[in-house]
Amino acid sequence: MQLLVTALMLCTCTAFASSTVLRFNSNPNRDCNQSPSVWCGSDDVAEACGVSSQCRSAKRVQRTAAEPVEVTIYMESLCPDCKAFFNKQLYPAWRKLNASGIMMVDVVPYGNAKETIKGHRWIFECQHGPAECEGNQVETCAIGLLNDKPDRWMAYLSCVEERSTADNMLQVAEQCAVALNISWDHINTCSHNEWGDKLEHWMAERTRTLNPPLQYVPWVTINGVHNEDIQKQAEANLLQLVCSTYKGAKPAECTQAVASRCYK
Ligand SMILES: *[C@@H]1O[C@H](CO)[C@@H](O)[C@H](O)[C@H]1NC(C)=O
Ligand SMILES: *[C@@H]1O[C@H](CO)[C@@H](O)[C@H](O)[C@H]1NC(C)=O
Repeated sequence: MQLLVTALMLCTCTAFASSTVLRFNSNPNRDCNQSPSVWCGSDDVAEACGVSSQCRSAKRVQRTAAEPVEVTIYMESLCPDCKAFFNKQLYPAWRKLNASGIMMVDVVPYGNAKETIKGHRWIFECQHGPAECEGNQVETCAIGLLNDKPDRWMAYLSCVEERSTADNMLQVAEQCAVALNISWDHINTCSHNEWGDKLEHWMAERTRTLNPPLQYVPWVTINGVHNEDIQKQAEANLLQLVCSTYKGAKPAECTQAVASRCYK
C-alpha cells in the first residue's frame, strides 16, 4: 500500500495529461479522501482513485492464495491401516478445518479391488472379501448421495470405518445411517442399482489411472500429488500438512496445531 500511495503522489505531481489523474484532481471525491485501504472495495472507487489495475491484481493474488488444499484418500473399507488413517488423521483434521474452508476432502473407496464387466454391470472382487466390497459400495453411495454435504458423508464413513468388521458390514452400515439421520433406504437402493454400480466403477477408474500408480492403501494425494514425503507427513500429522500447504492466511486451528506441545 505504501508503494501505491507513493506512486499516486508521483502521478499527481507529474502526469497532468493523464485523464485518470485529471479526474482524480478535479474530483478529489469523497471516496478518495478516505483511507487507501478502502479504495479496492468497489470498482467505481478504484477507478476514481486511479488504482483499478492494482486492485485487480491484488484480488487475483488473494484468490490464488486462498485456494483450499485438496486431500484425496484412496482406500478400502476393511483395511486396518485405512480405518486407522481415516479416524486418527483424516476425520479429526477435517473436523478441525472444515469451518475454515481451507481443506477439501475427497475419498475413493476402492483400493486394491478388481473389477470385471458382466453384461452391463461391474463385478467387484475385494482384498478382504465380499464384506469389503459391500463397505466400499455403501461408502461410495453415501458420497454420491450426499455429494454437496461432505460433513455428512464424512461422519457416515467415519462411523462405518470405526465399527465395521467382515462379519457385520451391512448391519453397521445401516446402524450408522440411522444414527446420523441418513436414509438407509437410499444408500441400500443405490448399492444395488446401476447408478451405484457406475459410481463404484468410477472409483475404480480413478484408482487405476493414478500417476504414480497405487501401490498400497491408504494412498494419499495432496492437490492431486502423491509422493513418499507427502504420504509420510499425512500419516504423521495430516492437519499440520494441510496447514503448511495452504498458501493463504492460516486459520486459528493451524496455529493451535503447531502450539500443541508441552514445553518444559
Ligand atoms: C462444516 O462446515 C459446514 C459449512 O460451513 C457446516 O454447515 C458444518 O456444520 C460443518 N461440519 C462440521 C462437522 O463441523
Ligand atoms: C432427519 O432427516 C429428515 C429428512 O432429511 C429431516 O426432515 C429431519 O428434520 C431430520 N431429523 C433430525 C433430527 O435431524
